[in-house]
Amino acid sequence: MTTENPISSTTFSRTRLPMVNKQVFRMGIAGNYGLDSSDIAFAADRGANYWLWGAGFKKVTQGIKEVIQQEREKHVVAMLGYGVLGWQVRKSVENGLRKLNTDYLDVFKLGWLGRTSFYNGSVVDVLLKLKEEGKIKAMGTSIHDRKWAGRLCLDSKIDVFMIRYNAKHTGAEEDIFPHLAKRNPGIVSYTATAWRQLITPLKKPVEMPPWPGEAPSDVPPLTPEMCYRFVLSNPHVHLALTGPKDRDQLIQNLKALEKGPLNPDEMAWVREYGRQVHTNHRMDYF
Ligand SMILES: NC(=O)c1ccc[n+]([C@@H]2O[C@H](COP(=O)([O-])OP(=O)(O)OC[C@H]3O[C@@H](n4cnc5c(N)ncnc54)[C@H](OP(=O)(O)O)[C@@H]3O)[C@@H](O)[C@H]2O)c1
Repeated sequence: MTTENPISSTTFSRTRLPMVNKQVFRMGIAGNYGLDSSDIAFAADRGANYWLWGAGFKKVTQGIKEVIQQEREKHVVAMLGYGVLGWQVRKSVENGLRKLNTDYLDVFKLGWLGRTSFYNGSVVDVLLKLKEEGKIKAMGTSIHDRKWAGRLCLDSKIDVFMIRYNAKHTGAEEDIFPHLAKRNPGIVSYTATAWRQLITPLKKPVEMPPWPGEAPSDVPPLTPEMCYRFVLSNPHVHLALTGPKDRDQLIQNLKALEKGPLNPDEMAWVREYGRQVHTNHRMDYF
């Protein structure tokens, strides 16, 4: 695990997102697993200001539109789009601007790089032109291939990386985080719960010592809060996405920010549990 803190002016709940250059609440909200527009207003009232959005995020579009209209400069809109050719990316960005009624997107992320979108000359030229035109502030990607992500961190035009990182999948600590210092891109993580595997009792239980922290005492499995605190305790991660299915889950997950980082004993325990889940539960899709 790396110990150097490369993120300046950071508290546990807020940091400056490089390249976008705005202060962000360190839990980004993904509204495609069940939230609606009223949940966006609710999260914004509690400090959230990073909104993952895509053409399919219909139930939260109105809510995001309303919160960003009030104070556009205080919010970060990160659009997840697709495209293998430049003109498709431009169309996607321009549709996003129209649907959200905004002049610019803070980040346009090429979704699932290598599968549903490509990093090629045609796409990169259009994204650089869109930056020049002020229609996007930063170029991003959502990427599953960690080693490739590490290489792109060292040498590419990509400003913000959306990557898998959680207590079960810690490979970003070797493949990605050591490569950040050269260009200092933004790091946004997803899968804090590892597709629920970390918060669901295992079919084959594992032996763990007692939880060293405060309540709850009935762990494992991890609580969702532990999952997000694990990710956000890593100083390389600017923010973690959360994809709650409803208001109750949203409230629970936002509480992780109030709790602060895991202490060293809690961190060691969560890391060990994640390791055992990885060994016990080999469901690595990517
Ligand atoms: N996962 C990926 O491979 C992937 C890849 C690229 C992009 N993304 C995007 O990244 C965003 C975030 O996704 P994520 O996978 O990181 O979401 P996440 O926050 O890990 O949440 C995933 C699931 O965990 C459960 N959960 C979350 N909070 C909970 C709580 N408090 N109590 C009980 N269960 C809880 C919910 O499952 P139930 O609905 O079953 O309760 C939720 O759908 C989404 O927009 C997603 O589309 C994800």
